[in-house]
Amino acid sequence: MTPSEEIKYLRDELNRHNRLYYVEAAPEISDMDYDMMLKRLEALEKEHPELDDPLSPTHRVGSDINKSFAQVAHERPMLSLANTYNIDEVDDWARRCNDTLGGSEFHAVVGEMKFDGTSISLIYKDGRLVRAVTRGDGEKGDDVTANVMTIKSIPLQLTGDDVPSDLEMRGEIVLPWKAFDRLNEQRAFNEEPLFANPRNAAAGTLKLQNSAEVARRGLDAYIYYMLGDNLPADNHYDNMMVARRWGFKVSDAMTLLSSLKEVDDYINHWDTARKELPVATDGLVFKINSLKQQLNLGSTAKSPRWAIAYKFKAERALTRLKYVSFEVGRMGIITPVANLEPVLLSGTIVKRASLHNEDIVRQLDIHQHDMLYVEKGGEIIPKITGVDTSAREPGAAEVEFVKFCPDCGTRLERVPGEAAWFCPNRYGCPQQIIGRIRHFVGRHAMDIDGVGEEISATLFATGLVRNIADFYDLTVDRLMLEGALGPRTAERIMEGVEQSRTVTFDRVVYSLSIPYCGETVSRKLARSTGNIDRLMNMSEIEFTAIEDVGPRIAAAVVEFFALDINRTTVERLRNAGLQMAMPEGQDQAGSDELAGKVIVISGVFAHHSRDEYKAMIERMGGKNSGSISKKTSFVLAGENMGPAKLEKAKALGVPVIGEDEFLKMIGD
Ligand code: IVH
Repeated sequence: MTPSEEIKYLRDELNRHNRLYYVEAAPEISDMDYDMMLKRLEALEKEHPELDDPLSPTHRVGSDINKSFAQVAHERPMLSLANTYNIDEVDDWARRCNDTLGGSEFHAVVGEMKFDGTSISLIYKDGRLVRAVTRGDGEKGDDVTANVMTIKSIPLQLTGDDVPSDLEMRGEIVLPWKAFDRLNEQRAFNEEPLFANPRNAAAGTLKLQNSAEVARRGLDAYIYYMLGDNLPADNHYDNMMVARRWGFKVSDAMTLLSSLKEVDDYINHWDTARKELPVATDGLVFKINSLKQQLNLGSTAKSPRWAIAYKFKAERALTRLKYVSFEVGRMGIITPVANLEPVLLSGTIVKRASLHNEDIVRQLDIHQHDMLYVEKGGEIIPKITGVDTSAREPGAAEVEFVKFCPDCGTRLERVPGEAAWFCPNRYGCPQQIIGRIRHFVGRHAMDIDGVGEEISATLFATGLVRNIADFYDLTVDRLMLEGALGPRTAERIMEGVEQSRTVTFDRVVYSLSIPYCGETVSRKLARSTGNIDRLMNMSEIEFTAIEDVGPRIAAAVVEFFALDINRTTVERLRNAGLQMAMPEGQDQAGSDELAGKVIVISGVFAHHSRDEYKAMIERMGGKNSGSISKKTSFVLAGENMGPAKLEKAKALGVPVIGEDEFLKMIGD
């Protein structure tokens, strides 16, 4: 096989296995074999950059480069759906459609899930994905192509000889329950605000500026609509089945229904069966099957008349409030929690529900021992939605938000401009210190195995660890004697401590518990500063120049390192041998390879977007310019560079460099 043949073979095979894995859930090869094929392809593409293709499976991992989204007009507006919570109204809708369409037989309806995510329009030209746009306002949306390309169940290249040259597919991007739980667990651990439901999480993820992070979160996509001129079939259902053959993920729940009874049965079945699905749904959608009939029925300005959504009712239970507890997080934020008489809701027993903050407690007007409504709609975390005031005990007192820290007794302060109260005794409040100890040993931080909630508290209580740097003064003997830990546990902890000396600098930054610095921000800070000394000494203005770092984070970092206690901790960690700089080549502190160069970008590129090239140039000390002049160092030219520009460059003797040459030049 020639390299070009092998590359083609590997791309086709990887695409096929992707589909087997992500769309059909029927993998044929092991993850390891898959990874090996991917690595081989990566190596070949590196050796033969001329054979690269932006749609190659190797590009699915995403890029770290920042993009702001361009707005794109939809060729056909993205309408919404009329909806109802009532089965009779679905029947009325079906009857109305049938009356309008005439004829004696029932006109077939397609029943499908209403996925609770965020809608997407996918544009394919000659079978290749060229653009992915969010719904936006229905007329225009954000171009999120780079992020969508990381979603493995969305085919980049369609397979089939009946794929129309111009095709639009619409569907829903969702974050499956498992990925949603994982994401929220991690956010809870970082004390970052949780996503209320998978819908918000999917929408938020799709709008991230960092497609590598998007790839990590595990989005999925279901297709429910095909548009274009030369569609394979004259009805929706068959088109969806063909879409599946082309490589799209179409829900198995999609069913052709040919009577009102079948419609009703479908609703009754999925009302409960949907709870077993791996993704969130908030209802069902019914569509008239024949495309001609759809056209006949037409649309209102807002929604098509040929479709209706039936929405599931959120499940609700009534239970008594035992008491409200106030919990202190590692950053000192106080969260009120309703402790409830256990109640069964959507198959799980609910005992606790977060009340989030003081404003929410006030709005709900909760009194001691009130009967509370608990709901679980699209939300995984149960939510208190109201109070049954008729069941209130006479004279029951209002629930008062605490004024003093429930742990250390310090008077609480309010975060300016926010609803949250916090305990300002950051370095003396036991719960906060224990929280930071737990954070320090966490899997995404120093990964010191064997230290859970209980042992963190023990280490603190016995005085063995009062500061994260104390871990490096521990010995097996001290853990056994002073901490009363068993030899196995003590040894395991010391092994973890030893290992932690090799943990990379970005995770060291994360493990410091700098306010507002979760995993992503910490990684950014570490990579863009390169080492601890720069991180400790940069100014607020300098920090805000880093992508994703706003004024609030910048101020928090500067404030953190202004405190002696934190500087001392860092010095102790440095002396203990922790990594205090990024390894060579992994920092993006910026280089000066293009220092002093003025560069004009022109044309269309295959490997990176224009914005990416602009960002790269700036990072390397170069300057972007819009027009060619004598000062221009060179033109970075993609495909279709305008002839006028080319002429001008020639006339002024400005070199014109192609994309690959440029990438070689900067060592990419
Ligand atoms: S069809 C013209 N089918 O629901 C009709 N939409 O409220 C286009 N949705 O914006 C929509 N599952 O994001 C359709 N099986 C499904 C759906 C679905 C979820 C979403 C979609 C749309 C919203 C309308």
